[in-house]
Amino acid sequence: MKKHFYITTPIYYVNDKPHIGHAYTSVACDVLARFKRLDGFEVKFLSGTDEHGQKVEKSAAALDISPQAMADRNSEHFRQMSALMNISNDDFIRTTESRHKRSAQALWRKMQENGYIYPGKYAGWYSVRDEAYYAESELVGGKAPTGAEVEWVEEPSYFFKLSAFEAPLLAYYDANPEFVGPVSRFNEVKSFVRGGLKDLSISRTTFSWGIPVPGDEEHIMYVWLDALANYLSALGYPDNTPDLQNFWPADVHMVGKDILRFHAVYWPAFLMAAGLELPKRIFAHGWWTIEGEKMSKSLGNAIAPEALVEEFGLDQTRWFLMREVPFGNDGNFSREALIARVNSELANNIGNLAQRTLSMISKNCDGKVPHGRVQDSDVGIRGIDFDAIREALQNCEFDKYTNHAIKYASEANEYIDRQAPWTLKKEGKLEEMGKVLYSLAESIRKISILLQPITPDSASKILDQLAIPPDRRTFAHLSEQFALKPGTPLPPPEPVFPRLSAISESGEGASA
Ligand code: MSP
Repeated sequence: MKKHFYITTPIYYVNDKPHIGHAYTSVACDVLARFKRLDGFEVKFLSGTDEHGQKVEKSAAALDISPQAMADRNSEHFRQMSALMNISNDDFIRTTESRHKRSAQALWRKMQENGYIYPGKYAGWYSVRDEAYYAESELVGGKAPTGAEVEWVEEPSYFFKLSAFEAPLLAYYDANPEFVGPVSRFNEVKSFVRGGLKDLSISRTTFSWGIPVPGDEEHIMYVWLDALANYLSALGYPDNTPDLQNFWPADVHMVGKDILRFHAVYWPAFLMAAGLELPKRIFAHGWWTIEGEKMSKSLGNAIAPEALVEEFGLDQTRWFLMREVPFGNDGNFSREALIARVNSELANNIGNLAQRTLSMISKNCDGKVPHGRVQDSDVGIRGIDFDAIREALQNCEFDKYTNHAIKYASEANEYIDRQAPWTLKKEGKLEEMGKVLYSLAESIRKISILLQPITPDSASKILDQLAIPPDRRTFAHLSEQFALKPGTPLPPPEPVFPRLSAISESGEGASA
């Protein structure tokens, strides 16, 4: 039986358009999803949009459109972002869909049946921007700790007995040291819970853009309870579907650090209250600043993913996002850093390796895989350490994973310089030249297979140039058993990673 792997992005608020921060979360999930598929897993990869709540209602009112119209429009933008960034999600859920409403209500009922929901009255602070409640003691200078404005709210509300889960959560954290990554963030979560948990208001009555509370339609569900339920509704919960059986509990909920508390405290508590299993891992990534500044609407410096793709290329952008900062840390986006990385790592290293090897084969070996076999221990790539790569991915260490690919390409580039096949050719040592080119082509095959999750289009272009059939590109095919067959005709080579020039500010950076 195939192993299953379920990974989710956060669902994106539809009050705004996608920017590089959203693209970042989605690309990270995509790399993991693609990696797992190539590693033999059956993957379910979910993304979607978070469409209810006061924030969306307010933004829509400001534009004088209905919240549904705003949701329709912006949800489509996020769907387009997925397509643009080559995100391989299998499903895209919208919280205004009936499959979701039904599921969120079923979750509510289950928590209620189990005695964890009671009616009361909320009086306290609420931040619309964060869609979060804050205690008086948490405020900093009259604002939320995130800097968001807060407003005083007093209304009838249902409460969730979060306080009952303080001890069970701490026990769960202790028993599952991998539950939250990175470790530093896990420690923050633990100390938050140790600091004491108060019951949580989980319904609102002063506005209506949300899912009705089952049995009391005066109330709508708190948007975070509604939103978190998406991870289950996409599996068909509460029906005991094959998807629910195969994919729950989720393997990874990927989130930004700003929304970790909702995922690592509230969500597991809701699930415990409903008698459901907890996700295996929640990984919190850092935030991007733009050229050293916080990305914000007021500064107008948010970068649209399509601007990056247009200027630098899709795989180049994906590569930069995954490589620039150790996943979990904050990072700074700078055009200069992106161009430098793309040129030194993709163009000069991996691209150049493929280009010079394949064009030599094309010109000197009759356009066919030359005769040879992998025998030169100094190619380096022979000793590919796939276990180390797999472990890096398991820990969301995307930078380490790319380091491996770079190392193999550098070794192969050193090998080509050392063996100098062009000299062998001049000296008439054609058989030796063929052997060297064969070893190189074989290392390019492996590097390209490895690169597929991160730079899918470019990796598959290189594999096409090596005439590798599409069904021979998984990690199982890294083994020598599937090595290139001498004599196989190859299509004419084409450069894959062009150099970027640094001059353009807005659009003409790429030069082949
Ligand atoms: N709707 C909630 C999530 C509900 S999940 C059940 C939400 N949406 S969001 O659109 O505001 O943010 C989605 C993701 O984008 C979050 O993981 C957030 O961390 C990420 N980013 C938003 N701005 C970012 C940066 N500047 N940098 C990196 N990621 C950032 O929160």
